Amino acid sequence: MAKDTLTITDNRTGQSYDVPIADDTIRAVDLRQIKVAEDDFGLMTYDPAFMNTAACRSAITYIDGDKGILRYRGYPIEQLAEQASFLEVAYLLCVGELPTREQLESWKETITYHTYVHTNITKFLEGFRYDAHPMGMLLGVVGALSTFYPDAKDIHDPANRYLQRVRLLAKMPTIAAFAFRHSRGLPFVFPDNDLDYIGNFVNMTFSIGGRHKPNKVLQRALEILLILHADHEQNCSTSAVRAVGSSHVDPFSAISAGIAALYGPLHGGANEAVLAMLDEIGDKKNVPRFIDEVKGGGGRLMGFGHRVYKSYDPRAKLIKKVADDVFEQTGLNPKLEIALELERIALEDEYFVKRKLYPNVDFYSGLIYQAMGYPTEYFTVLFALGRMPGWLAQWEEMLLDKDQKIARPRQVYTGSEERPYVPLERR
Ligand code: ACO
Repeated sequence: MAKDTLTITDNRTGQSYDVPIADDTIRAVDLRQIKVAEDDFGLMTYDPAFMNTAACRSAITYIDGDKGILRYRGYPIEQLAEQASFLEVAYLLCVGELPTREQLESWKETITYHTYVHTNITKFLEGFRYDAHPMGMLLGVVGALSTFYPDAKDIHDPANRYLQRVRLLAKMPTIAAFAFRHSRGLPFVFPDNDLDYIGNFVNMTFSIGGRHKPNKVLQRALEILLILHADHEQNCSTSAVRAVGSSHVDPFSAISAGIAALYGPLHGGANEAVLAMLDEIGDKKNVPRFIDEVKGGGGRLMGFGHRVYKSYDPRAKLIKKVADDVFEQTGLNPKLEIALELERIALEDEYFVKRKLYPNVDFYSGLIYQAMGYPTEYFTVLFALGRMPGWLAQWEEMLLDKDQKIARPRQVYTGSEERPYVPLERR
C-alpha cells in the first residue's frame, strides 16, 4: 500500500478506500467516491467557517500560529518592519521577490503617476452624509472605480492586471484621505507627487491651507503599521477577495468586497471596537470587573484572540515597540494604562490562558492611530490601506492557479421536504 495515503473504512457498507495525502491534506473531492448507493452524491466534508479546510495553495504568506511566526514570501515580518518601506513590501507581495534598486524606483514612479482620481469621485463623496462611516465610503468608492476603468474587466491579460494593481495601490491613499476630509467637512487636498507614498497620504489627510509640518517619526510609525497589515494569508477579507474575484469580476469590485469584509468588528473593525471598549472601561480600577463580565459571557475582550495565533501575535509585539516611539512624540495616550492592565490581567487569568487568547494586531494599533490624530471610525480605513498589497497579490495568485474555479461551497440541506404551494386565502 502506498505510504502517502489515508485508508478510510465506511462502516455503513464495510468498504475501504485509499485516498492520497499531499502536503498533509486530502482532497475533499476524493471523498465523493464514498457512497452507500450508486446514485448517491457521495461523501462531503462539513466545515462551517473553514476551520480545517485549505481553500488554496499559496506562496505568499506563511504563519505558524503556535510559534507566533509571520513571513511574507519567506522574509520574517520583524525584518521587513524594521528595514523595508511599504512600497517595497507591496512589490515583494505582488511580484514575489524583493525589488532591486532600479525596480523599486520604477515601481515607485509608476505608482506616483497614478495617484490622482477622476474628479467625479469627489462629487460622489460629496453625496455621502456628513456622518457617513469612512469604511462605507471607502468600499463604495473603490467599487465605483470599476465604472471609471471598464478596461479592468480584461482580467486575463497580465499587463492589464498589473495596471489595475498599480491603480489600486496608487489611488487608495487618495480615496482614504478624501473620506477623512469629507467626515471633517474639509476641502479635499489633491496628491502632491513630490512627496513619497506615506508623506503624500498624511499631507492629503492633515494639511490645512497647505500648512502641514511632517513628522518623520510618526510617518515611519504609520509605515510600519501598514507593513504589519500588508497580508495575513487566508483571512476573512482575503477569502472574500478571492471568492468574489473567482467569478472573474474586475479587481475593483473584488477588492471592495474585501473592504466590506474587513469592516466587520470581528475582523478589521476590531481596532475601533477596542477603543470603544477602553472608553467603556474608563479607568484602570474598573479592569477586574470588566474581565469578570467577559468571563461571565457578557461580551468579548476586543483585540484579543485569533483564529490562527494561539500565542502572542508577532504583529502585536512589534506594534508595542512602535507605540513607544509614537507616544514619545505625541505624549502618552491615557487609555494605554487601561490597555496594559487588561493585558496584564488577561495573560494571567485561567480563562484566557486556557483558551490561548493573546493580544492581536488590533489591541494596540488603535491607541497609536488615535495619538496620531485619526478618529476611531477611521482606524479600519488605515488597516485597509495596509492590506491592499496582500489582497492584490492573493487575487493574482488565485487567477493564475489552475486548481481554482468559481468559489461555490456545498451545503447540507436542512429545510422542508417538497410540499405543495398554499394559496394566500388558505394560510
Ligand atoms: N474574549 C473573550 N473570550 C474569547 C475571545 C475574546 N476576545 N475570543 C475567543 N474567546 C473564547 C470564546 O468565547 C470561546 O470560548 P468557549 O470555548 O468557552 O466557547 C473560545 O475562546 C474560542 O473562541 P472562538 O470564537 O471559537 O474562536 P474563533 O477562532 O472562532 O474566533 C476571533 C477568533 C473572532 C478573532 C475571536 O477571538 C474574537 O472574537 N476576538 C475579538 C475580536 C477581535 O479582536 N478580532 C480581531 C481579530 S484579528 C484581525 O482580524 C485583524
